[in-house]
Amino acid sequence: MAYLGLDLGTSGLRALLTDETGSPIASAEAPCPTAHPASGWSEQDPADWIAALEAAIAALRSEPAFRDIRGIAVSGHMHGAVLLDAADQPLRPCIMWNDTRAHAEASAMDTNPAFHAITGNIVFPGFTAPKLAWSQHHEPEVFTRIAKVLLPAAYLNLYFTGDHVSDLSDAAGTAWLDTGVGRWSEELLTAGGMRPNQMPRLTEGCAPAGTLRPALARKWGLGEVTVAGGAGDNAAAACGVGALAEGAGFLSLGTSGVILIAREGYSPAPETAVHTFRHAVPDRWIQMSVMLSATDSLNWLAALFSKTPKALTAALGPDLAAPSPLTYLPYLSGERTPHNDAAARGAFLGLTRATDRREMTRAVLEGVAFGLRDGLEAIRATGAAPATLFAVGGGAQSDYWLRLCATVLNVTLLRPKGGEFGAALGAARLAMTAATGKEPAAIMTPPEDCETFAPDANLFPAYEAAYRRFCDAYPSARANP
Ligand code: XUL
Repeated sequence: MAYLGLDLGTSGLRALLTDETGSPIASAEAPCPTAHPASGWSEQDPADWIAALEAAIAALRSEPAFRDIRGIAVSGHMHGAVLLDAADQPLRPCIMWNDTRAHAEASAMDTNPAFHAITGNIVFPGFTAPKLAWSQHHEPEVFTRIAKVLLPAAYLNLYFTGDHVSDLSDAAGTAWLDTGVGRWSEELLTAGGMRPNQMPRLTEGCAPAGTLRPALARKWGLGEVTVAGGAGDNAAAACGVGALAEGAGFLSLGTSGVILIAREGYSPAPETAVHTFRHAVPDRWIQMSVMLSATDSLNWLAALFSKTPKALTAALGPDLAAPSPLTYLPYLSGERTPHNDAAARGAFLGLTRATDRREMTRAVLEGVAFGLRDGLEAIRATGAAPATLFAVGGGAQSDYWLRLCATVLNVTLLRPKGGEFGAALGAARLAMTAATGKEPAAIMTPPEDCETFAPDANLFPAYEAAYRRFCDAYPSARANP
């Protein structure tokens, strides 16, 4: 038996094939382009996801284990609005998680206390509900034709099963879910101008959601395959590092920067701007801080210098240096935790004639680390006190960045060997759980083999002072200070 975990990430789709024990056998990736038609806008065409999926599948089909696939699950970037007509055709490109066009609609919804009370979260501009309100105001010809609203992972579930079905972890990021109970809230749907029949069916991420359509199974040379509910990418990554028990968690350096803690009870804290969502396994929740431009900041800098992000970080060497005199504010797309400020913008403060590429790289890595520290402080305000976190995501491949983050956060970071599979591994584990019916905790175990990055006690005071300068600079990043 084999399992297929799919991670629909912001920059591309990764497919991971695992054996019957859940160990990786092979993986394939295909890029997905993002369009930014206006400042703060971010869109992808769902047809590009299917093209990327088919390309990744084509690359994996030569693996002998491919034909033994018994379970598939999708991890998707969260909050995206895929608007479908009655024939399941997208009415417009998907409005993505880091798209802040709906900030006015989000602020208006957020004044209705029912949203905090029922969802446990602030209505952030990137969440799904305000995007639908934006559509109603700005694209009424689209809005009136919407038969179903799907999240990106659920759109792939539809492709696989022919059914509209979403898992609870992803559904919790819409601002329409009763997060404690785990069902759509009619009150919130009505408040957002939506109808319950426009929503997909809900399931646990690790439960079977359907079976692979016979036509697709034939095309790919597969037998009967269980499709699991899947998950939002952060819950999936938590399954990938076995973060199910109270307090276990990770730091993710992806396009977004996330600190996630698993919780065994539901205790939302919207006033902290921490997100509280369902986990992808029953009776568990996740709490997380989300910054919008983590590796995205480094990618932006690398593109300006026509370098790869890896070349920029490699030029710093492995050893952590003292803080840069330059301060970088990482608000290229606004910010969620802790500021909930769609209008904030990025900045470099302290440029001189001596400033060079290395200095700017260090400042960008530090600015992201300081933004994550802001997030950790918000997480701490919910009562969690993580001493160690797993480190996942593309940016976690940089030793320098992990030493820096460990020191700024004062937390020991554990980088799993093979951690680069993150959410794809979590998805494969969800597929395995759904197909075998085994207990999630028996499958979603923490990685045993990790590299440790401890805080640098000597440099901690200097970074503490630099973090204070970063905090003081935030007001200058606001569009209307
Ligand atoms: C979480 C969030 C991001 C996306 C990106 O709330 O918006 O982490 O899921 O993948």
